[in-house]
Amino acid sequence: MSLFNLSAIKLKDLPKAQDAYIFGIFSDTGISAKFKSAHPNLCKQITLAMDSGEFEAKLNQTLVHYMPDCETSKRYIAVGLGDSKNFTADFLRQVAATAAKKILDLKLTSFAIEFMGESNLAAADAQALAEGLVLGSYRFLNYKKPSDDYPGIGSAVVITDSAISKALDYGMQIAAGVVVTRDLGNHPSNIATPSYLADTAEAIAKLGGMKIKVYEREDFEKMGFGGIQGVAQGSDVPPKFIVMEYLGGGPKAKTLGLVGKGLTFDSGGISIKPAAGMDEMKFDMLGGAAVLGIMSIVAEIKPKLNIIAVIPSTENMNGGEAYKPGDILTAYNGKTIEILNTDAEGRLILADGLAYITDKYKLDGLVDFATLTGAVVVALGHRYSGLLTNDQVFADQLIEIGQKTQDRVWQMPLDDEYAEDIKSKIADVKNTGAAREAGTIAAAAFLREFVKEGTPWCHIDIAGSGWLKKGRSYQPEGPTGAGVRLIMELIRSWE
Ligand code: BES
Ligand code: ZN
Ligand code: ZN
Repeated sequence: MSLFNLSAIKLKDLPKAQDAYIFGIFSDTGISAKFKSAHPNLCKQITLAMDSGEFEAKLNQTLVHYMPDCETSKRYIAVGLGDSKNFTADFLRQVAATAAKKILDLKLTSFAIEFMGESNLAAADAQALAEGLVLGSYRFLNYKKPSDDYPGIGSAVVITDSAISKALDYGMQIAAGVVVTRDLGNHPSNIATPSYLADTAEAIAKLGGMKIKVYEREDFEKMGFGGIQGVAQGSDVPPKFIVMEYLGGGPKAKTLGLVGKGLTFDSGGISIKPAAGMDEMKFDMLGGAAVLGIMSIVAEIKPKLNIIAVIPSTENMNGGEAYKPGDILTAYNGKTIEILNTDAEGRLILADGLAYITDKYKLDGLVDFATLTGAVVVALGHRYSGLLTNDQVFADQLIEIGQKTQDRVWQMPLDDEYAEDIKSKIADVKNTGAAREAGTIAAAAFLREFVKEGTPWCHIDIAGSGWLKKGRSYQPEGPTGAGVRLIMELIRSWE
């Protein structure tokens, strides 16, 4: 949950004394003339702090002042905005998160926030500010008793003179979707089961007037979903294959396809994972959770285009009927798969998802999200998601949006010849590439076999970007919500 409710207000309408009043200062241009004339005493203090070198207004630096006889607030918190020449909307996302965190650290519950000395915010800045406040104050407290650590949900008001309340609302809606994804990821696998994901999808569908169909284990055989059927065999927890249809555009509107890996716990199966860190494999459903986060925003804002979402969801366990190395599975498009490692299960459930969605729908673009390979963490760390594609124009669009939103993606090659890495001697393909060679690319080359020819497709591997052991800025530790802001901006550009 986010710990602050947000609203926009004009300075003259600020209702009551706030616990704190937060403002930003650039490191190069310093305090604005307008702010100086409005707060002369405060500015003397800040100038002292800046002249002494104790506060340089570096990005995310903070400075707290206590003001005795001030009606607006007892506390003023200056936040560094860094160099004005480098300023981007993401700086605002960051400093808003820094501000919210400072408030939480001080155990306060209400604050007003303005930036750049009361000058007007652009819409993109206002959106980023709202996102930063909500995302930076996100904490997952569902399984904790109420404690003194957090005094409860507080209120934040954004001081502005310009008509940015729409952009603030939009930022809050986007952030709320990211929160949906983070919450789904944080819930443990005994709560966030495939049924839980299906129930969440049902609730979202109801809210957004979407159609939904959930296929059960009993349906897999007749549907030809041999990939998810094989993976789910080792678990008694019922698997689900979720299909959501949002038809918000007219006949000429574009249709976007989304597929998310909803693996609610990955033990590795018979090719079992080491014990250390296995708890983190509750996060192996973050691709599916990103798609649900996106659909939850879509349900609210109702964009004018069509979106089809598919989330194959199961555990990967080693029960008595578990699939085994050497087994052969047949995916929805009829291709046979030799299993050489049961821990490479994500690509098997995605195979059915990708084959199904491209068979049933004519898509203008298809994006899949998956915590698919450890190799992408080795290659890119935790900052960028890996992107692989069969369509450079579509990929370029996402790469650019990734830079704009700072929900970043980095492309890896996927030349046709990588198909050789996944050739099997006894089936059409095998579910592993060459040992320790280009694991992320081999996985994508495998997925490509299940995307119907002619569909522009991007695969996004979020195994590194999906969650953080050590939080930063507006991404506290745990699930980040990678992919949600990226796709929401794509949707906006497609409308
Ligand atoms: N869910 C994992 C990928 C993963 C690993 C995500 C670490 C996040 C952190 C996936 O199912 C997996 O186990 N992949 C294997 C594939 C290999 C056996 C070909 C991997 O990457 O080691
Ligand atoms: Zn695995
Ligand atoms: Zn997995």
